[in-house]
Amino acid sequence: MGNNRENILAGKIVVVLGGTSGLGLAAAEAAAKAGALVTVVSSNQQKVDEALTILPEGSKGFATDLGSERQIAQLFEEIGELDHLVFTAGDSLKFSDLPGLNIEEAKQSINLRFWGAVMAAKHAARVIRTGGSITLTTGALGQKPRKGTVVIAAMASAIDGLTRALAVELAPVRVNAVCSGTVRTNLLSSMLEADREVFFSQVGSKLLTGKVGDPKDLAEAYLYLMCGSFTTGQIIVVDGGSLLV
Ligand SMILES: NC(=O)c1ccc[n+]([C@@H]2O[C@H](COP(=O)([O-])OP(=O)(O)OC[C@H]3O[C@@H](n4cnc5c(N)ncnc54)[C@H](OP(=O)(O)O)[C@@H]3O)[C@@H](O)[C@H]2O)c1
Repeated sequence: MGNNRENILAGKIVVVLGGTSGLGLAAAEAAAKAGALVTVVSSNQQKVDEALTILPEGSKGFATDLGSERQIAQLFEEIGELDHLVFTAGDSLKFSDLPGLNIEEAKQSINLRFWGAVMAAKHAARVIRTGGSITLTTGALGQKPRKGTVVIAAMASAIDGLTRALAVELAPVRVNAVCSGTVRTNLLSSMLEADREVFFSQVGSKLLTGKVGDPKDLAEAYLYLMCGSFTTGQIIVVDGGSLLV
């Protein structure tokens, strides 16, 4: 038997925080396809129920606000032991120049993406089994900011640093991150659909790949990081070449 993903992930417990849509749901589907037992978590029970209709029978789901340490602690009490944790939770994002920046909304985004990841690592660490991993999610804007992305870019850089620090702190648990470029998900749901399509097509046309990403493209990277037993403290960029243009 070779070391293929099916052999590595079969029967493993994979928990995806933010796993009811976008990157998280794609990672959960890919892990389940490789034989893992998947649990998805997000704040909205209806979205959890919808995700469970897509995932194989036996998958589990919990409605939890990942901005709340109390709820996160309770979640890991209920889940018990697990092998791989993936964190993709994120609320709707708005690009804004500095004068127009809504500080309270920006703080809430940081609370979920950065502090949510810190709190999840804190409470999951004691239930991750030997050979397990944590995979966070960051964005290419952290390495290459654009106008109108001050907080988004700074937050991504913070998650990059958090990934390396957690890899040292929690070893031998491996900690890595997937760094996403622009991917077609619900993330920009605050935009009108027509505006979103224009945005995707404009961004896509400037990328080396000529198009924005699909969540399935990113799922490959999450699986690699779960399975790669010699990889820790790393950030894998899947961005259609955005850092080069
Ligand atoms: N898509 C991109 O272009 C892109 C680019 C760079 C980085 N990223 C990052 O990748 C991550 C995933 O984004 P995505 O595109 O997959 O977005 P998405 O499709 O909107 O998924 C976000 C997930 O987070 C959950 N969530 C939101 N607020 C939550 C809360 N308070 N507690 C628990 N779960 C919560 C959502 O479910 P509920 O609504 O049910 O809570 C959903 O499952 C985000 O951090 C995003 O910033 C995305």
